[in-house]
Amino acid sequence: METFQALLAQKLSAALTAADLPDAGEITQARDPRFGDYQTSAALVLAKQRGEKPRTVAQRIIEKLEVVDVCEPPQIAGAGFINFTLRRAALEQKTTELLRDERLGVATTDAPKRIVIDFGSPNVAKPMHVGHIRSTVLGDSLARIAEFMGHNVVRDNHIGDWGTQFGMVIYGWKNLLDRAALEQDPIAELVRIYKGANEAATADPAVRDACREELVKLQAGEAENFAIWQQCTALSMGEFERAYQLLDIHYDIQRGESFYNDRLPAVVERLCTSGLAEKSEGAVCVFFRDIPDLADRPCIIRKRDGGYNYATTDVATVDYRIGDLQRDTIWIVTGAPQQLHFRQIFEIARREGRNADFRHITHGSILGEDRKLMKTRSGDNVALKDVLAEAIVRARSLIDEKNADMPEAEKAEIARIIGIGAVKYADLSQYRMTDYVFSWDRMLSLQGNTAPYLQNAYVRVQSIFRKAGEQITVPNELVLADPGESVLAKCLCQFAEVVPTVLNGFRPNVLAAYLFELANGFHAFYEACPVLKSDEPARSSRLALCNLTARVLQRGLELLGIGVPEKM
Ligand code: ARG
Repeated sequence: METFQALLAQKLSAALTAADLPDAGEITQARDPRFGDYQTSAALVLAKQRGEKPRTVAQRIIEKLEVVDVCEPPQIAGAGFINFTLRRAALEQKTTELLRDERLGVATTDAPKRIVIDFGSPNVAKPMHVGHIRSTVLGDSLARIAEFMGHNVVRDNHIGDWGTQFGMVIYGWKNLLDRAALEQDPIAELVRIYKGANEAATADPAVRDACREELVKLQAGEAENFAIWQQCTALSMGEFERAYQLLDIHYDIQRGESFYNDRLPAVVERLCTSGLAEKSEGAVCVFFRDIPDLADRPCIIRKRDGGYNYATTDVATVDYRIGDLQRDTIWIVTGAPQQLHFRQIFEIARREGRNADFRHITHGSILGEDRKLMKTRSGDNVALKDVLAEAIVRARSLIDEKNADMPEAEKAEIARIIGIGAVKYADLSQYRMTDYVFSWDRMLSLQGNTAPYLQNAYVRVQSIFRKAGEQITVPNELVLADPGESVLAKCLCQFAEVVPTVLNGFRPNVLAAYLFELANGFHAFYEACPVLKSDEPARSSRLALCNLTARVLQRGLELLGIGVPEKM
């Protein structure tokens, strides 16, 4: 099934060829309905290139445009835009096709990639804090969309389970551990001993040396320390798993940093042999002397004390993903502060002749109401599990208000869908680089660009069908006589145009904005056009529009990793 946008783009290309003009300009959705449904700035682009008058070029294009089957005669507007307004018959036909299409018009890609997406990737013995939610939720949504587009996707959780923090953790485990507290809340206790050891090490060089010794023993595979490390990892993984279950996130593989540990010496040796790395002040580094802003920022791949680091691990990770996993595309989702690190890693890979498409997908921070990094009152990071629990409690009181006599189990399930959905959507509806303020009241509001608003629109449609109490029959031909109907139908047809664009620039917020517009369009339609009380053929057509709206909302939210309740 072809979208209007794709169809018009083809017709524009043909017209340009027929008018002896080079291919230029795209077809975009019109921002303002007064200017039709689609537009192109091709004439403006070409006029500038050729030093001609835009409106004259536009006229030449229009004369060759063969669009009667889709549009009213195209109009020249403003400085030289060409505007297209869809014909009712074309809209009716396309919308009817959409009704029968499982994929709601979204074509699969004709260039499927083998993608590995590294997202979430929390650290052992450190709490998964609310900051990790961005990478987790963003990565999951991108994975869902890429998969829906027909790409082959491996979701990898690159857990931070092998770092210098373990020197402190093991020292803390041996000297500061409170067993009862560990049983109560393992992560909180691991964090406490880590912090305690860290403070002691800062104050006392002897403790610092002791921590370092514990780390060296662990790295040498000494049994006791290795067993402690294993327990810490298992405890942390258990907590991550619980969060993933609540969040409905799944990974195909979880290759933590420790997985690469025994591959690190060979990485350094290889880079030294090939001449890409060199010794510098006792460390081994890769220099980027020919890249001006990296010239004085070498990447250390072996520290002066002989230890390997985060960068060494990431070089080995690239090897594994391209070699073992046979991936041609690598997406890594982390906060913006890791930009330099991944530029260096990708540059090393390029120098080693690896040709994969590397993308570092960065995100901004979550702020508290005071517009500073979100923290608890005592200044700690806010634990993700507390945020998720509170989201569900707050959603629950929303349901208690609206639907007091709903059965308990149903309330609990709906509270989970709404609470978790609200947190995810608050994140995904923002451009990923934007720092946003975390606000319970806003994200759980039934008004505005929120998950509950979209879920409520879906629930409304479902209640129409419950009221109708009948199987809906898919009409053979939709009739879209009322402007309320055609505005909604156009919006429904645009789902297939919007979804593929999300992966350009990795912006689920574009899909969120679309769904918000769709829900608004649905409410306007519903106000203007009675559904169950109208006569045929309007009644079946309107029911069909309702059905399509529900399906697009459900699918769209699913691509964001958000569920829909049937009632709320
Ligand atoms: N564990 C890291 C952190 O919490 C993120 C890891 C990202 N992936 C990678 N291949 N380095 O910041």
